[in-house]
Amino acid sequence: MAKFKSFLFGFIFVGSIALNIFFLTNNIYAGYVNKQQLSWSQRAAAEAEAVASVSCSGHGTTYLDGLFLDGKPVCECNSCYGGPYCSHFLPDCVANADSGDPLFLEPFWMQHAESSAVLVAGWHRMSYSFADQSIMSQVLQNHILKVHSIARNAITKGKYLVFGAGSTQLLSAAVFALSLNSSSLKRVVAASPYYPVYRTQTDFFETAHFEFQGDALLMKRTSNSTGNVIEFVTSPNNPDGLLRKAVLQGSSVNAIYDHAYYWPHFTAIPAPADEDVMIFTISKLTGHAGSRFGWALVKDKDVYLNMLEYIQLAELGISRDTQLRALQLLKVVLEGDGREIFHFAYEKMRDRWEKISQIVSLSKRFTIQDIPPQYCNFFEKVRGPSPGDTQVSFLLMKLRLSIRQFLKCKQKSCYLNPLID
Ligand SMILES: Cc1ncc(COP(=O)(O)O)c(C=O)c1O
Repeated sequence: MAKFKSFLFGFIFVGSIALNIFFLTNNIYAGYVNKQQLSWSQRAAAEAEAVASVSCSGHGTTYLDGLFLDGKPVCECNSCYGGPYCSHFLPDCVANADSGDPLFLEPFWMQHAESSAVLVAGWHRMSYSFADQSIMSQVLQNHILKVHSIARNAITKGKYLVFGAGSTQLLSAAVFALSLNSSSLKRVVAASPYYPVYRTQTDFFETAHFEFQGDALLMKRTSNSTGNVIEFVTSPNNPDGLLRKAVLQGSSVNAIYDHAYYWPHFTAIPAPADEDVMIFTISKLTGHAGSRFGWALVKDKDVYLNMLEYIQLAELGISRDTQLRALQLLKVVLEGDGREIFHFAYEKMRDRWEKISQIVSLSKRFTIQDIPPQYCNFFEKVRGPSPGDTQVSFLLMKLRLSIRQFLKCKQKSCYLNPLID
């Protein structure tokens, strides 16, 4: 018996030493392999991390392509902050309520620094086309379709995808595509209040095929014919956040649905959108306005081909570097159950809306729009408002003036100070 016991102890002792040696060498080997695997990318990774490690007091950022002073990256400060490390609050700064940058999502991406970083090899996709001779990454297309199916904001089945340099370019491409084969002039309209780029861009690129003709509501009220019309429909609308449908109907009316904000962060999603031409953008989905990437979902094959031709002629397709970046971002969006970004962004936007509503409610002169809660298919419950960036500026301008004040305004040059009654 004693012999058996000492044999057992000996066996366990030797076994545990063998296991320790196995795990130790394995760990060393794993570390060695990792080091071996990273060779040419190490310098780029170290450089990116060195730049990102400079603190700008939480009120600014350093960039790889920003300015350097004495070999150190210079902080680029957010508005209202200054100084070398953005630590000085500028009390007299003016809040620009007329436009917005989707920087509210920056903290989300910092929380996902590891998974969202992308390293671009010097020889990355140097060709004009992908291996299948296309100008659009098939993998990116698949990811876009997955994001829509999680957000439940668009029917993608039976639709063609076109990439653009942001939705701005696709809005223009859609006008060209819908008017290209028309024998008579297409009248481009949008219901007031509308995103002003529809007018400026259409005016700028006007051809013999189309011209901007103003307010769709006015056209509906005053014109006998609503034929040969292209209507921009922004849903939810910039600047009032309301979900919209086309004002004009008819066989020769085409609608371009700008769904830049049709994501659960900005609006309830009552049902997936299923329009003929729908345009989306990562500027508002992930907040990467600087990457300039958007896409259109198009039902009609000819319209799709015309849009594709526009993009081909304008720039031989969207930068492959941008497509790679967009792909990496969407991979992060799809991590886990793919819902994290929507929760994060909704809560941020809702909190901001509540704050601004409270501030404006203190004023007797300014009113803020009342956006009623609505059932959302994504959150599967009734949810409160969290509208996107530019709505606030419009709402702040909705002054309630008495007739006396209004007349006084017209007589003299009018100075409106919301703090003075
Ligand atoms: C309604 C609407 N459509 C399109 C855009 C432009 O988006 P992108 O950055 O994709 O060009 C904006 C930008 O603010 C917008 O508000």
